[in-house]
Amino acid sequence: MARKDNVTIAPANGKLGVLIPGLGAVSTTFIAGVEAVKRGLGLPIGSLTQLATVRLGKRTEGRAPLIKDFVPLASLDDLEFGGWDIFEDNAYQSARNAAVLDPALLERVRDPLEKIYPMEAVFDRDYVRRINGPNVKEGRNKMEKAEMLMDDIRRFQARTGVKRMIMIWCGSTEVFHSPAEVHQSLKRFERGLQDSDPEIAPSQIYAYAALKMGIPYANGAPNLTTDTPALLELARENNVPVCGKDFKTGQTFMKTLIAPGLKARMLGLSGWFSSNILGNRDGEVLDDPGSFKSKEETKLSVLDQILQPKLYPQLYGNVFHQVRINYYPPRGDAKEGWDNIDIFGWLGYPMQIKIDFLCRDSILAAPLVLDLVLFLDLAQRAGMHGIQEWLSFYFKAPMHAPGLYPEHDIFIQLMKLKNTLRWMRGEDLITHLGLEYYD
Ligand SMILES: NC(=O)c1ccc[n+]([C@@H]2O[C@H](COP(=O)([O-])OP(=O)(O)OC[C@H]3O[C@@H](n4cnc5c(N)ncnc54)[C@H](O)[C@@H]3O)[C@@H](O)[C@H]2O)c1
Repeated sequence: MARKDNVTIAPANGKLGVLIPGLGAVSTTFIAGVEAVKRGLGLPIGSLTQLATVRLGKRTEGRAPLIKDFVPLASLDDLEFGGWDIFEDNAYQSARNAAVLDPALLERVRDPLEKIYPMEAVFDRDYVRRINGPNVKEGRNKMEKAEMLMDDIRRFQARTGVKRMIMIWCGSTEVFHSPAEVHQSLKRFERGLQDSDPEIAPSQIYAYAALKMGIPYANGAPNLTTDTPALLELARENNVPVCGKDFKTGQTFMKTLIAPGLKARMLGLSGWFSSNILGNRDGEVLDDPGSFKSKEETKLSVLDQILQPKLYPQLYGNVFHQVRINYYPPRGDAKEGWDNIDIFGWLGYPMQIKIDFLCRDSILAAPLVLDLVLFLDLAQRAGMHGIQEWLSFYFKAPMHAPGLYPEHDIFIQLMKLKNTLRWMRGEDLITHLGLEYYD
């Protein structure tokens, strides 16, 4: 039986521009990786859009196409990259400094990387205190800086001939701040840009520029950014999809694998102590208490939502949860994350789980950037706008509608993602009920 799509999805014709504030470790590992994959120098491991399949119909039907064959995604050959940074290094130099990928591999993709020069950044040291650089815009007020970003984007589009664009924040983590008066409506926000309201962060100026031009925005850091009524109003007004916050890699990824398992078996938890050492620039920025507070908030929120202590007070009513990040330069991007998990079982008998995850932050984050770029572009071509909850899978602190709690369990998130794709294409949603096999 021919199935009918639930949404009209425009084809992925023409090139897709990927605009990235922050040409650091994550973004250069992503760009270099795409160039390497295009040349057959490596595989896009970790990317659902490139490797995952989606099961369709009943288990007996044997239909499991690759996601990229099931929904029309932009091809890697059609991606064009542009970015901003406070440092003047091109993407090749920045990738060398980040020292995530082998120099020999970087040499082989040197040409395309060297062509990516960072545009001048919108930067404010009140929001990122540990670093400073020369490649920064000067303007009369924050609105003028937003307009300068929009000019950058128009020039990028004219130079590359891209048909569509996505913006994804891979810049440093800004200091923690809560929504203020200026974030309550678009009108107030625009007045705040004119008045250079100190509550408006640089990441919000980028987001404003993108949304104003109808460009979808993803937030890879824990900054507040689009998680405000004003910018969501703009996204709604211009029919633009947005998602965030904070890529779910490393330790939080582990947490969202293990915590649902403990809860599934009704095992109790008394404490979870997480500690990290990392020595890249991200680690240096997070050494500042203001930036760390942003990160801590997103990292801590995960357990509470998964374990639902109000529903299970005997098991999770008294959890001691602590997260530490220590800047330790010798490790560079090769982070080490330790978790000590104190659990209890039958009759309250205590047990412990220890995790020592020797991970590579940017190697884990790069495929997430790729998937988010391709899925956000799909969402826009499918006419979906506002918060894209189905992309929660990628984030530590998924954006969600007011009044809802965010879904952190990675398996529920994955089901939501795949069911959204099935829904788009008019396929049956998979509930895993399966009674029909036993009739
Ligand atoms: N790697 C991961 O696993 C992971 C996971 C979750 C979140 N993140 C977040 O992703 C972001 C990038 O991480 P990274 O390891 O690439 O860090 P990085 O320090 O290597 O790169 C960030 C870059 O952003 C630049 N920058 C800072 N403020 C800017 C601004 N206003 N405009 C333009 N550029 C600006 C910095 O100069 C730097 O080059 C960080 O916020 C990090 O917390 C990373």
